[in-house]
Amino acid sequence: MPLQLASKRPQTGLLRDPCTNSNYYDFNVIQTQLNLNVSFETKLLSGTVTYSLSFANHLVSQLTLDTSYLTIKSVTVNEQPLSYTLHPRFEPYGSPLEINLGQVDKKFQVSIDFSTTDKCTALQFIKGDTGPYLFSQCQSIHARSFFPCFDTPGMKSSYAFEISSPLKVLMTGLPESCDEVNVYKFKQPIPIPSYLVAIASGKILSAPIGPRSDVYCEEPKIDQCQWEFEQDMELFIEVAEKLTFKYEWSKFDVLVLPLSFPYGGMENPNITFATPSLLCKDRSQVKVLAHELAHSWAGNLVTNCSWEHFWLNEGWTVYLERRILGAVAAVKAKQQGAEDYELQGEKVRHFSAFLGIGEFCQSFSDLPQEATSLVWDLKGQDPDEFYSRVPYEKGFLFLYHIEQTVGIKAFDEFIPFYFKRFRYKSIDSFQFIDLLYEFFDAKVLDTIDFDKWLFGTGLPEIPKFDTSLVDECTTLADKWVESFKMGDESQLKSQFSEKDLVKFNGNQHLVFLNDLAEKLEGLDVDAKLVRLVAEIYPFYSRSENFEIIFSFSKLLITFGKFDESDTVVQRFASWLHTVGRMKYVRPGYKLLSKYISKEFAIKTFESTDIYHPICKSLVRKDLGI
Ligand code: BES
Ligand code: ZN
Repeated sequence: MPLQLASKRPQTGLLRDPCTNSNYYDFNVIQTQLNLNVSFETKLLSGTVTYSLSFANHLVSQLTLDTSYLTIKSVTVNEQPLSYTLHPRFEPYGSPLEINLGQVDKKFQVSIDFSTTDKCTALQFIKGDTGPYLFSQCQSIHARSFFPCFDTPGMKSSYAFEISSPLKVLMTGLPESCDEVNVYKFKQPIPIPSYLVAIASGKILSAPIGPRSDVYCEEPKIDQCQWEFEQDMELFIEVAEKLTFKYEWSKFDVLVLPLSFPYGGMENPNITFATPSLLCKDRSQVKVLAHELAHSWAGNLVTNCSWEHFWLNEGWTVYLERRILGAVAAVKAKQQGAEDYELQGEKVRHFSAFLGIGEFCQSFSDLPQEATSLVWDLKGQDPDEFYSRVPYEKGFLFLYHIEQTVGIKAFDEFIPFYFKRFRYKSIDSFQFIDLLYEFFDAKVLDTIDFDKWLFGTGLPEIPKFDTSLVDECTTLADKWVESFKMGDESQLKSQFSEKDLVKFNGNQHLVFLNDLAEKLEGLDVDAKLVRLVAEIYPFYSRSENFEIIFSFSKLLITFGKFDESDTVVQRFASWLHTVGRMKYVRPGYKLLSKYISKEFAIKTFESTDIYHPICKSLVRKDLGI
């Protein structure tokens, strides 16, 4: 390891996660049993969590767990009631639950009876399309508001779940047969951290999308879900296995949630949660499933030991996601008889990188400096507030840089080596670098400035990607910019038509729209001319692809000089009430606030109740409410 970097390695491996109140480093969890009762009437969960523990450190006599807005009813140790203290809440980490263990053997069991409260941040009880619906979202530090736990990615446990609910239940894990009515059992034999525990309950149906994959959804959208995903799901898994090793979780199922789900996807093992905005009718968003699948190795087998090293989860996942997308494109090109199928696959990988890095650069100026390094200092901070494209794209660029330095063939051998070495464990960035030095020639690695990559802030150097699939899009954007500069409306109308777009796929439209927006920045273009884009390309106003709707509206609202009564603005405001994915919601309200008015943004935000608590609290901060 380079000397400079070594000096930043923490002296003790113990207190690695500043975002938990638990003394997780004093214990090993042998198994966790979570029994719950779902009440759609009270909108609460109640139940018992039982930890089978052993000491990692014999000197301790106290166990502290994370809780947040939970009611604690009783605590037993080896079935004997014991005293405990629920400490006052302190933000953003909640109320530590301190349990006096008394005299116990090396191995013991702690059970806690608890219930959630209406302030719970992990759960949302909502009205789904066909009835009441419950779902959870625990990453980053919300599991503590679902059940008392070691809420750190640094601690893993196998789980057994037993849930009683009047409606079908899905959870992280494999279903087990159960004779009791309205009782659902699951086993998760692979040790997982608390943030991957997930639950959903509602009138949920399923349809196959591959030999080891089903999609779950409420009835009205189930066929659409199947169509959107069935072509790619198994191919994704097969190529991912070639890059790494066998998929260890048995099944890869997907649950498409109601629209308030705040993320694009969440890699809950066995049951990836996904936003309904993936149902764009052109299969262009199935790439989100490639991403969540890649987490089956990056994040779910090898986990960041604290959110300070979050890039290890997301950077590696984006790296694998792009390898998967490239490999699948190569397989398809080969099936169609192309001789240069490998090259075509590589072009698709580069296209994906170009698109992602473009979005990343655009979002960069909004970020506080300290959030732009790969490794973060999160003492006292809420990791959700550090969330941005940085761990994804800078993380990807770092791994791509290593790949280019050592050569892709050698890096391909490192990938399974890394995931096998650290599977079932939680690691930090230093352990990753150590393994690089174990595997590759130090002289080659020493050319990489690891210190700058991990701790440096700001944008990294962006390499040249193959732009063959991008060029058609940016050429069209250039043509528009030239015509805008000439300022002649009738010439513009004769020069462009919807035919310009026929060759583009869903993601190429995005490159065109984002590139045009980027090129217009700083130019003083007549707003009337910008509005013509909507007239000449009505395809964009009709699109059901959420990515396109967002990028197109952003272009128009940024440069079209509209006020709140214009239909473009009204439509966008209404659209914001049909989507809960934060990727659109947060920048959407910022856009309204900046280009229409802060009052209008707040009024629009406050006139709906669809958003998830995590999303609500972040938009409130964004808008200064
Ligand atoms: N694990 C993340 C979602 C997440 C991150 C939730 C941090 C809470 C805190 C998931 O895998 C993800 O990255 N989703 C992306 C998908 C995209 C990169 C394809 C999203 O939601 O946009
Ligand atoms: Zn991810």
